[in-house]
Amino acid sequence: MKDKIEKIKKAALAEISAVESDEGLEEVRVKYLGRKSELTEVLKGLRDMSVEEKKEIGQISNLVKNEIESAIIRKETEMKEKEFAELDAKEKIDVTYPGEKVPVGHLHPLTKTRYEVEDIFRSMGFLIADGREVEDEFHNFDALNIPQNHPARDMWDTFWLKDGNLLRTHTSPMQVRFMEENKPPFRIIVPGRTFRFENSDATHESNFHQVEGLMVDESGKLTVANFKSVMAEFMKGLFGKELEIRLRPSYFPFVEPGFEIDVACPYCAGKGCRICKMTGWIEILGAGMVNQKVFTSVGLEEGKYEGFAFGVGLERIAMIKTGVNDLRLFYGNDMRFLEQF
Ligand code: DAH
Repeated sequence: MKDKIEKIKKAALAEISAVESDEGLEEVRVKYLGRKSELTEVLKGLRDMSVEEKKEIGQISNLVKNEIESAIIRKETEMKEKEFAELDAKEKIDVTYPGEKVPVGHLHPLTKTRYEVEDIFRSMGFLIADGREVEDEFHNFDALNIPQNHPARDMWDTFWLKDGNLLRTHTSPMQVRFMEENKPPFRIIVPGRTFRFENSDATHESNFHQVEGLMVDESGKLTVANFKSVMAEFMKGLFGKELEIRLRPSYFPFVEPGFEIDVACPYCAGKGCRICKMTGWIEILGAGMVNQKVFTSVGLEEGKYEGFAFGVGLERIAMIKTGVNDLRLFYGNDMRFLEQF
């Protein structure tokens, strides 16, 4: 009988170690420890034995039973561990691994420049007004004292549309539109896209941006000195320091007198450099005191109001600020260029 029990034990342990699945292990358990197991069958024979034999065999069979049970538990643990190890290898997450940088974009340099200009003028109480890109001849030219057949029109090469309208050649028509709707005093800037019928080169594009400025009050209240101080503030905001400003006489039909404004080069303090083309000065915008003819063209009484106007190229400002020397780069959408800003 002892031999039999020993054999059962050996067989059980061998089967347990060969098992590969939970179900297989359960089968082995039922086979060797269940109510109808071989061991149970063997123990049934105890009935016919002496008390000593019963005691001895009983002890042995209990030991074997315990051994088989422990072997099953060990096997179970072993299989669980193996399963976890496999899962671990497959789905391992290293929480200390450095993250991947998500590329974050930024505003286009021209948009940034526009926002900067808007902020500077807003801080001086200017309102930001919006014009239209398709204009009529009256607002783009006639009302600005640029009559038909007058040679002054040659200053603006124009995209004419089939219906007689045009793509605005400057933001100045918004001076007229704003005064048709609003009585002075006021101060506005008008940022916007403008168009010229010309070939593009490093400093010209058929499509570019301007910011128009217009400040008007009753006669005697606004002088060239006021204009100059607004420009000084503008340049200080743009370049972050006080810079000398110079007015040169110039001609634009909608102003009288007209000026060209230069600012002392912020990069070389007047010594001469690449940006100021060795002159120490940078030409920044066109301006002047509003021509009375513009007031009368919108129905305002001649002589009653005075003010100043200016028009500045946004690309030009961006070029001066960034040192970029070809304006076409701003429109190339080359990421290598844009990512530098
Ligand atoms: N409109 C002009 C241009 O496109 C720029 C300009 C000059 C605007 C003088 C003004 C001004 O308001 O007073 O060339």
